[in-house]
Amino acid sequence: MCGIVGYIGDKNCVPILINGLKRLEYRGYDSAGIGILQDKKSLVVKNKGKVSFLEDRIENLSLNSNIGIAHTRWATHGIPNEQNAHPHTNHDHSIFIIHNGIIENYAVIKKSLLNQGYKFNSETDSEVLVHMIDGFIKNGNDLQKSVQLALNEVEGTYGLAVIYSNEPDKIVAARKGSPLVVGLGDNENFIASDVSAILAHTKQVVYLEDGEVALITKNSFSAKTIYDKEIQKEVHEITMTLEEIDKGGYPHFMLKEIMEQPETVRNSIRGRIVLDHGTVKLGGLIDVVDSLVEKKRIIITACGTSWHSGLVGEYMIEQFCRIPTEVEYASEFRYRNPIVSKDDAIFFVSQSGETADTLAALREAKMKGALVLGICNVVGSSIARETNAGVYTHAGPEIGVASTKAFTSQLVVLALITLLIARRKNLSQVDGKNLAEELLKIPEKIEAILKLNDKIEQIAEKFKDSSNFLYLGRGYNFPVALEGALKLKEISYIHAEGYPAAEMKHGPIALIDENMPAIFIAPKDSTYDKIISNIQEVKARGGKIIAIANEDDDDIDNLVDFSIKIPQTIRMLMPILTVIPLQLLAYHIAVKKGLNVDQPRNLAKSVTVE
Ligand code: G6P
Repeated sequence: MCGIVGYIGDKNCVPILINGLKRLEYRGYDSAGIGILQDKKSLVVKNKGKVSFLEDRIENLSLNSNIGIAHTRWATHGIPNEQNAHPHTNHDHSIFIIHNGIIENYAVIKKSLLNQGYKFNSETDSEVLVHMIDGFIKNGNDLQKSVQLALNEVEGTYGLAVIYSNEPDKIVAARKGSPLVVGLGDNENFIASDVSAILAHTKQVVYLEDGEVALITKNSFSAKTIYDKEIQKEVHEITMTLEEIDKGGYPHFMLKEIMEQPETVRNSIRGRIVLDHGTVKLGGLIDVVDSLVEKKRIIITACGTSWHSGLVGEYMIEQFCRIPTEVEYASEFRYRNPIVSKDDAIFFVSQSGETADTLAALREAKMKGALVLGICNVVGSSIARETNAGVYTHAGPEIGVASTKAFTSQLVVLALITLLIARRKNLSQVDGKNLAEELLKIPEKIEAILKLNDKIEQIAEKFKDSSNFLYLGRGYNFPVALEGALKLKEISYIHAEGYPAAEMKHGPIALIDENMPAIFIAPKDSTYDKIISNIQEVKARGGKIIAIANEDDDDIDNLVDFSIKIPQTIRMLMPILTVIPLQLLAYHIAVKKGLNVDQPRNLAKSVTVE
């Protein structure tokens, strides 16, 4: 989704801003722009398309400035084109602004600004901000005050940065619902929507909170609320490294992230298992665990891939903890006045920790008195900070838009939480220990599956031209069917559906013919015989079948066209293994179709708008 980067200091900001934008490309965008002050005059260049195109355009302009802001836009209001790209400027180009988020009451504000004689150059909601600020400056306010006054009138969300040529030594930035971080350096300071944009320059950061307006000069930083109250901010040290956000020799971030999973899963488990007691220690839940085990109900709320991990979590918690568990799309939960009380614990699962719907659902649940808990990957993210307690997944930065390693780490954390609660309830020490031992073996089993990469690539070659796919699984592997289908849709633009295998005969079976591949997730578990019957049903109708099966399952080869054989584990952990071949299959199909795997069209990594 939209990205922001800004610089003020002694260096030429242009390469810093362009490189910062490149670091933000993974978030998904459709246009890019840069605004600087050169000889105290504003200069804005923007275009539809990639940052590399912007870079080519500015190459011959000899831009040199020590203050500037830059933006990648993911269109919401108005098509992706040059006019709608940011920065937006006021009538005399003395003020320019970049904005992430949505100004919900922009239509009313725009009407009033048009009545005052302001002219609009774009179809965006964001442009109202620059003209509002212009109006407050004309009334004698300085830039920061004008931003505060403008933000008092807007409804919606924003992460924004503004520069004004008559106050050429400052950047003003503000945040509500759209992340923004200030990076502190020596005689230079930065602003970014995501630390990866500025990590090459500093590790000292200040996270802005909702309703805060920051004033940044080359050697100072201060913040006030939009109501003009001074605030003291804490400086945080980033532990993420530059290597972690590089491709590390892989052609795509997605492949790198799939291949990293033995290590990321190890990191999610590390230091958390107390093997002798058959239990786990989760520092983030210590203060709430007594209350958590007493809850009458657990709800898991999330979006996208994180919602799929929530579905697996439901199976885990109900099987082992015997606490009724529901899984909800955050977008539905937040608007349907959910019945929630202090007897509920609600987990908010989010890789980014910034997804707008999940964050809003969290605030709703908190307001209704539930215990709100986070399962997040990004340390210091909004969801991590606003929950009562939580557990980090420690998967490291995930750059590919299609989530892979974050998913498997979420499953690990959900398994750890299940074990923690179950041991406090009915699970014996021996059973807890068995479960923990199985979890510890998962990374090497993932390593074995990753060795099948070449074979999976060959299968991808056979199926890359199919236009529909059906993914089928039962029990714990039904959410994996959904996730496998989502991966394929996201990056290959092939229509794919995930179904509980038994539901096939209630509709999808009508689609089966020789052109419709069906992928069955068929490990040897209690529903294996049933899934074999479903495979027979597809075979009888001429459908092509790929099966994800266990290593010792030779019989299945007589039934299916292709099989991918993976190691066995206990039922609850099987999704961490069965999903890996599906990630690789989607990846190879998309690569063979020549598509942009890491930045699929229309998608964003972190969806900070509703
Ligand atoms: C976007 C991403 C998905 C992700 C979903 C939820 O749609 O493209 O990969 O699963 O948001 O994101 P979250 O950061 O909350 O897990």
